[in-house]
Amino acid sequence: MSAGKKEFLDTAGINTRLGHLGNDPHAYHGFVNPPVVHASTVLFPSAEELNAPPERQQKYTYGTHGTPTTDALCEAIDALEGSAGTVLVPSGLAAVTLPLLAYLSAGDHALIVDSVYFPTRRFCDGMLKKLGVSVDYFDPDIGAGIEALVKPNTRLVHLEAPGSNTLEMQDVPAIVEVAHRHDCIVTIDNTWATPIYFRPLDFGVDVSIHASTKYPSGHSDVLLGTVSANAKHWPALKEAYTTLGLCVGPDDAYQILRGLRTMGVRLEHHQRSALAVAQWLEGRADVAAVLHPALPSFPGHALWKRDFKGASGLFSFVLKVDDAGEFEARSSAFLNALKLFGLGYSWGGYESLAVPVKLGDRRVCKAPKEGPVIRLQVGLENVEDIIADLERGFAAAAAVGR
Ligand SMILES: Cc1ncc(COP(=O)(O)O)c(C=O)c1O
Repeated sequence: MSAGKKEFLDTAGINTRLGHLGNDPHAYHGFVNPPVVHASTVLFPSAEELNAPPERQQKYTYGTHGTPTTDALCEAIDALEGSAGTVLVPSGLAAVTLPLLAYLSAGDHALIVDSVYFPTRRFCDGMLKKLGVSVDYFDPDIGAGIEALVKPNTRLVHLEAPGSNTLEMQDVPAIVEVAHRHDCIVTIDNTWATPIYFRPLDFGVDVSIHASTKYPSGHSDVLLGTVSANAKHWPALKEAYTTLGLCVGPDDAYQILRGLRTMGVRLEHHQRSALAVAQWLEGRADVAAVLHPALPSFPGHALWKRDFKGASGLFSFVLKVDDAGEFEARSSAFLNALKLFGLGYSWGGYESLAVPVKLGDRRVCKAPKEGPVIRLQVGLENVEDIIADLERGFAAAAAVGR
């Protein structure tokens, strides 16, 4: 990309940036999008080129080490995150586990937010413990109080803001300040906000993680993760990535780059509809609580308002059920009555989804007592159709036991 265009994009609006970052048409005969390069072998012109030290070798040397397609996506993500380098991995979960492997060694201790994505906890409790790393979970509300949990061997603090399923916010700058004073790396799963609504590195976080499977893909058909690090922590991340032999297929990288072009306008729609649905739910007598950071009633609202530029389309609510013995029956009746909402886990696509939330893994943030938690992904459909579908769910839940 020409220096002039790069400079222009550095200060342009987010939809302009999303539309152009990573593209360099004149490097590819004027075609708007970069080529999809399928490659394992890269040829060298001579023995001298093959023998040259890495810093003097040609730009591309081996399929796993990058291609014009993967570089285009990494360049766009670096510009969005403000990071020194980005790696692409085969799933969002791999994007969470890679930095844990990169930065932790036997004998180290890590602090993980308790409202973390469940498979992250499974990795910490299984694989990390097996490798000799100890882990403690902390209350997302802890803020600067995290100091009390830091041990001499604590090396890493992992955040996810807002948290999975129950959406607890975290005071990111307060936690970062303590962590850095104790020489700990701070990583964050930033999937919910995307770099459009929260740029973790601007708040001192060292490593920002995304399941690009969600909004960057936007169409429920690609699995991919990104990990972006600041200058200090980029070399160790890159080293672990290369050592583990990780890479992604060019078609998937291309699809994520394609998804970025429309992510801004899709998110505006998700945000608007999700907030309208959340406000509608808040007014219902059969809803005990709506867990959405943009609602003033939500406990983490002030933190969201202070640090985030927007909210995406994923949130939860607590269905009001007086008898704990009926939690599952009413939640199932609600979900089974939905016609528009699909019942499925991987969110961020164009379609509305609902799932029952299980919180049995939590150590600190316990499940609400007022009723079962249901998570909604509000899609791009017309909001009146979404609400009409939810009405069906509430009617079915109310009919249980009658
Ligand atoms: C917050 C969060 N992080 C990571 C992931 C994992 O993403 P993937 O499905 O690409 O492994 C998910 C998936 O639901 C998620 O919700």
